Amino acid sequence: MPLNQETIEAALKAGRQSAYLPFSLHLFETVSSTNQIVWDLLGSGSEPGCVAIATQQTSGRGQWGRQWVSQEGGLYLSVAIAPNIEASNSYQLTLATAWGIAQQLQSCGIPLGIKWPNDLVCKSDENGYKYKKLGGILTETKVQTGKISQAVIGVGINWANPVPETGINLETWQANQQPKPIPSLEMLTSTILLGIESGIQSLFQEGINILLSRYLEFLINIGEEIYVNDVMSTIVGVTHTGDLRVCVETSKQRKIMQSEIHLQPGTISLGYRKLRLTTHNTTITNEAAQ
Ligand code: BTN
Repeated sequence: MPLNQETIEAALKAGRQSAYLPFSLHLFETVSSTNQIVWDLLGSGSEPGCVAIATQQTSGRGQWGRQWVSQEGGLYLSVAIAPNIEASNSYQLTLATAWGIAQQLQSCGIPLGIKWPNDLVCKSDENGYKYKKLGGILTETKVQTGKISQAVIGVGINWANPVPETGINLETWQANQQPKPIPSLEMLTSTILLGIESGIQSLFQEGINILLSRYLEFLINIGEEIYVNDVMSTIVGVTHTGDLRVCVETSKQRKIMQSEIHLQPGTISLGYRKLRLTTHNTTITNEAAQ
């Protein structure tokens, strides 16, 4: 499924007033990993702003060292930036990218949400799920003297590729929509690139406080109840460094004590919840495998 570079560039030009990230596009059909291609481009002298785009990957990389299954028909792209921020703030790049893409897709009419920390989810009523996974973000960084000198932001979006039960692709979601919010893979590509650009621009021009409040508007997990060390707890937010803020209630000598703990990305998986109707009109939720 070859992509048309001129169409993507024309859509990018039409969608932005000024270029914050100086995109230079490199298009492929199949690559190992677009993140790897961008690291290779940087290694051979390309500037930040270089982008690798493919419709299939043979060694797609996911979070926590997982494989990202990247069958033909998906959108796989990666962008290089030189953020020069503290290494401890690396997750801000993922939060910014997630918000930027969510608001771009939402402005096209797609009901987007963010599942902490880096999942792009779409509202769905298929098989009882409230949200299904539309895509994910993997940010890789190079750190020099405590600062991120280079970062590669990789995004995978389900366009027409097969997906598991907890996933959804845009082709299926917009099958009954007239007109289709995203009419082509080229339009999706430019929308995602504009989303990355606006997220990164918001982070660096407006700061993490504003960015975080925008991210939280899309977060589907606020108020969700989870077990932490067998204690029922409630998700209340996300910190500036991307940790999950959880309120834990314990009782000691008949006194209820509340405390807040912070969980780092990768230490807990929130999974996808399925709404299930049981007898007596009671709605209960149960965890589904990711
Ligand atoms: C996740 O695990 O949810 C994040 C997956 C990110 C996958 C994208 S696809 C484009 C880029 N290239 C990769 O190898 N991974 C990222």
